[in-house]
Amino acid sequence: MKIAIVSSEAVPFAKTGGLADVAGALPKALANLGVEVRVILPGYGSIDERTYRIETVVKGLEVPTGDRRETFTLKRCKLPDSEVEWFFIDSLTKFRRNGLYLDKKTGKDFPDNDERFLLFCRGVLESLKALDWKPDLIHLNDWQTGLIPAYLKSIYSQDPFFSETKTVFTIHNIAYQGNFPAEISEKLNLPAEFFYPTAGLEYWGMVSYLKSGIHFADLITTVSCRYAQEISSSNEFGCGMEGLLRARQSDLHGIMNGIDYKVWNPEIDRFLPFKYRADDLEGKRKNRLALSKQMGLPNPGRRLPLIGIISRLASQKGFDLIEASSKELMKLDLQMVILGTGEERYHKLFRSLRRRYPGKVGLKLGFDEALAHRIEAGADMFLMPSRYEPCGLNQLYSLKYGTVPIVRKTGGLADSIDDYDPETGLGCGFVFEEYSPEALLEAVNRALEAYRKKESWEKLMRYGMSLDFSWEASAKKYLELYQRLKRNPQPVTAESQSCR
Ligand code: ADP
Ligand code: GLC
Repeated sequence: MKIAIVSSEAVPFAKTGGLADVAGALPKALANLGVEVRVILPGYGSIDERTYRIETVVKGLEVPTGDRRETFTLKRCKLPDSEVEWFFIDSLTKFRRNGLYLDKKTGKDFPDNDERFLLFCRGVLESLKALDWKPDLIHLNDWQTGLIPAYLKSIYSQDPFFSETKTVFTIHNIAYQGNFPAEISEKLNLPAEFFYPTAGLEYWGMVSYLKSGIHFADLITTVSCRYAQEISSSNEFGCGMEGLLRARQSDLHGIMNGIDYKVWNPEIDRFLPFKYRADDLEGKRKNRLALSKQMGLPNPGRRLPLIGIISRLASQKGFDLIEASSKELMKLDLQMVILGTGEERYHKLFRSLRRRYPGKVGLKLGFDEALAHRIEAGADMFLMPSRYEPCGLNQLYSLKYGTVPIVRKTGGLADSIDDYDPETGLGCGFVFEEYSPEALLEAVNRALEAYRKKESWEKLMRYGMSLDFSWEASAKKYLELYQRLKRNPQPVTAESQSCR
């Protein structure tokens, strides 16, 4: 089985969020199952070619853009930890910039993202041909890759090179759609009928790369079972794509992400000053002290719960609930550490909390890989009050680090975290359902109450640490789908899925 995975970001090369973690880990897990895997990424300027020993494979490849031609270079590397081969579409004009999707100077999307990801999508197909490497299946991720199935179903449909190639399109976040003004259709060189009202790329008078992926791919997956149900059942979650998803309901599968325990594991985590394990939690206490110091929080000199947040600061993540509950929240006997970057309104919110509640709030606004690991290790609880959450990875990392998650019951958070019942000792976190400041406070209060009972709290921590969310199980589910799609040219039909 040969699989090409196409993603706009992947660890360790480029990352803005969880997609990078998935695209970095799933390929390795598939390779461990005996699959021949190649991953194709944009060759961003921020990727250090020396560090990864990236070498040029083919120069002067071309992609038509309207009546112009855009050239690119295909580059490649391997990493010591697996057999996966990594490829990069390198374009001086399109990817060698400061930022992946947003211009760091203006904070806005690059104005030519349509052309950048057109080059990427068609560049992937041209690269596969240039390599003379025919994948059985191309696994696509999010809107940045959405044009690929449209090209395969049109311009390349008679090309014998791709006659056996199937596509799987994974939705990591349906709210990011890659919608552009209708005029850009001229650049794409796709059949005119694809842009007619309600056709494959047409979305309320615009051109939608995400819709293209959902419409033309042979199979669609998303990153939790619950999110699969949510996005096909209402406009609130489906963001306008719910009708299309309902029409393709039997081709839509929910597969929960895994986590890479070589990277996220307190026993071996290279970013931690102190390693620890479930049967010896002393290191966690030391990490807590080191973290407080690093974040400028006073050492309380007693057992005081520290709540961590690591997040893109976007409205998806539910920070308006923190804003609305901040007065009450800050009255509680706790400290918080927050690491994030994103929308300015949330930068303001957290800056003002730090100012108003000195000694209670530690804050870093920015992207900091090492600090993210240290917060997972040093915090006692981890807060994710998301409005919606396709999968969410930090609640899974938290479990592994003995950091008890407090989450809202949505998407992958609902699928992975069971509410703790102090009577029975069942459950691994604290869950609230209603999207309201009261419900959030109620869950935080329950967590604080449970924290006071040291013995049962440590049991709860250890239980979370014992849960297994490794990639192996999820990778097997993907492989099963690939195999069924390969054997059976008709798209495979989803079994009726019942989420937890
Ligand atoms: P999303 O993909 O929606 O951002 P996930 O929970 O799936 O949410 O994944 C987020 C990933 O990005 C995690 O690995 C998290 O640690 C990381 N991350 C988010 N913000 C930051 C930040 N400011 N600094 C470092 N890592 C971050
Ligand atoms: C998206 C989602 C997040 C998910 C990640 C990886 O960014 O917002 O919930 O975990 O993709 O699939």
